Amino acid sequence: MKVFITRQVPPVIKQAFTDQGFQTAEWTERRNLTPEELIRYAKESDGLFSVGSNRIDRSFLQECRHLKVIALCSVGYDRVDVPAATELGIPIGNTPGVLSKTTADTAFLLMQNVARKALHMHKEILRGNWDFFDPMANLGVELTGKTLGIYGLGRIGFELAKSCRLAFDMPVIYHNRGRNEQAEKELGARRVSFDELLRQSDILSVHANLSDETREVFNRDTFSKMKSSAIFINTARGQLHREDDLRQAIETGTIWGAGLDVTNPEPSASDNPLLDMPTVAVLPHIGSATVETRMKMMQLTVANIIAGLRDEKLPHCVNPEVYLR
Ligand code: DGY
Repeated sequence: MKVFITRQVPPVIKQAFTDQGFQTAEWTERRNLTPEELIRYAKESDGLFSVGSNRIDRSFLQECRHLKVIALCSVGYDRVDVPAATELGIPIGNTPGVLSKTTADTAFLLMQNVARKALHMHKEILRGNWDFFDPMANLGVELTGKTLGIYGLGRIGFELAKSCRLAFDMPVIYHNRGRNEQAEKELGARRVSFDELLRQSDILSVHANLSDETREVFNRDTFSKMKSSAIFINTARGQLHREDDLRQAIETGTIWGAGLDVTNPEPSASDNPLLDMPTVAVLPHIGSATVETRMKMMQLTVANIIAGLRDEKLPHCVNPEVYLR
C-alpha cells in the first residue's frame, strides 16, 4: 500500500512507513498542490498524509472515496468536510495535544512583543532611529495583574492561561459554550458572556476552532466593545477576525494593538499595513513550529496513517462516528 505525503518530510518519517512495508510518494515542489493534482496523487495512494492547507472538500472525498485514511499533520481540521468523510467511511486523523504548549508559547511571545512594541523597536534600530535616551519614548504597557480573556479555552488556551498566571499573576476569564472545570479549579478561571469577555479583557487571546459560528466574530462591532488599552492575540485561524476592521480599530485607538500568528487572508501580503504598525506583531503561522513539536506532530500523523492502512482505529480521530457505521 502507498502513502502520499503533500510536503517534503524528514527521511526518518518516510522510513517509518517503509519499515512497516508501505511505499511513500512525496510532493517536493515549493507550492501548494492544485485540487486536480491532489486528486491525481491521492488516486494512486491508499493513505493521504496531509501537511499544509489542502482543501479536503466533498468533491475531493467523492473522487477519492477509496482512501483508507486521511491524516492531517495539524490539530485544526477546518479545511476538511468532516461530515462528508464520515458519510463516505473515511477516517480523518489529526494531532491534538502535542502542540498545545508550543502554540500557547507563541501567543505568550506575541502578547509580550505587542505590550513592549518589541518587533517595532527592532525595526526602528534597523532604520537608524536609536539616537539618545528619552525617558518618555518607546513606552510599552505592563502585563502584571492585567486580565487575560480567552475566547475558546481548550488545551492551548489552558497552557497560555497557566503561563500568564505564573509569569504575570494575571486573572483569567474565558468564553466557551461549556465550562472548563479544570481551568476554573486549577487557575481560578471565570466563565463570562462574550460581551463581558470583550469589555473586561486587557489581553484577549483567541483559541477557538474556525466554524460558521466563529468566522469573523472579531470585527468592527466586537472591537468597539473592547478596552482602548486592549491587546488582541490570534494564534488560531486568521478567518476568526476581519483584518480591515482590526487595522482600523488599532489606527483609531479603539484598541491598543494586536499579535497575530495567523492572518486573514493567509499568507499575508508584504504590504499589509498591519506589518508597519508599532503595536502590532505578525508571525507567519509558526504556532507549532519548533523542531521538537513538528517531529511529534509528524510521528502522530504516521501513527494515524499506519493504523488506518491496517484497518485499525486511528489513535487520534476527528470523526470516530465513522466506526459506528
Ligand atoms: C494546526 O495544527 O492546526 C496549526 O494551525 C497548523 O495548521
